[in-house]
Amino acid sequence: MKKVKKAVIPVAGLGTRILPASKSVPKEMLPVVDKPLIQYIVEECLASGIEDIILITRQGKEAIENHFDTDFELETVLEQKGKREILAIVKDIVQMMNIISVRQKHPLGLGHAILCAKPLIFDEPFAVLLPDDLVDSEEPCIGQLIEVFEETGAPVVAVERVPKEEIFRYGVVNPEPIRENLYRARSFIEKPAIDEAPSDLGIIGRYILTPEIFNILERIPFGRGGELQLTDALNRFAKMNSVYAYTFKGKRYDAGDKLGYLKANVAYGLKDPKLKKKFKAFLKEIVGKE
Ligand code: UTP
Repeated sequence: MKKVKKAVIPVAGLGTRILPASKSVPKEMLPVVDKPLIQYIVEECLASGIEDIILITRQGKEAIENHFDTDFELETVLEQKGKREILAIVKDIVQMMNIISVRQKHPLGLGHAILCAKPLIFDEPFAVLLPDDLVDSEEPCIGQLIEVFEETGAPVVAVERVPKEEIFRYGVVNPEPIRENLYRARSFIEKPAIDEAPSDLGIIGRYILTPEIFNILERIPFGRGGELQLTDALNRFAKMNSVYAYTFKGKRYDAGDKLGYLKANVAYGLKDPKLKKKFKAFLKEIVGKE
């Protein structure tokens, strides 16, 4: 079985939920404490054995590619000023990963964004990470899915239990339990109404897919919202083949949403060794005043 060595990271969405912050700054560049969201995602890939990243991007998102490119002027100034610690951090980011960009010319949905990676995937399995979803876990979330893929040889999506009133925001799995944390997906439905949801297991932004998904994406009609939906393609796939859903270990933050973004900053701020003591004291102080 081929190993998962490539990751597709789609960043060509419009990011309407976090406007106006995302108007001229890509939402993937918004910082959580001191790193942009996209860097956490690339670090997750690195820690999971991924070697190449395929960024599905669009006009106005160039800051993401620049973040992983050399800034000679900045490096020279840091060198001259003897700021060695920060210089090392800046250089490390550039060396982190081989990043290839592909433009999605129209925002036709997540399924369409994934289809843009087809010419670069060949016949290999690949990971998909949506940078809105930040997962704080001991073992990287995508690494956990790669382990399931190595066991089953079939596509796998990360899921978590979602409160009923929020299920309409998610792709939802109709699950057949296999063992603890692992389900075979009988079917998938994108953003169902509460009474249509087959379970409370919502898909989050981590997937391992196989190239067969491209054939389906090329054939299915545009779905909900006039977009080509990855969930619809997975649903077709699940009718003929095994697809698994895995409840990953870790805490996920939806950083593409204002409340989720704030929560991520607080949680990561409280974990930062240099900040946590003072930050905790500050939080206690302001919460006490409420
Ligand atoms: P979302 O559904 O979260 O949409 O996309 P969005 O535009 O990013 O954000 P909101 O909902 O308007 O605030 C899920 C993922 O799919 C990518 C997005 O960049 C995000 O990573 N995407 C979505 C594309 O790359 N292209 C698209 O046409 C749509």
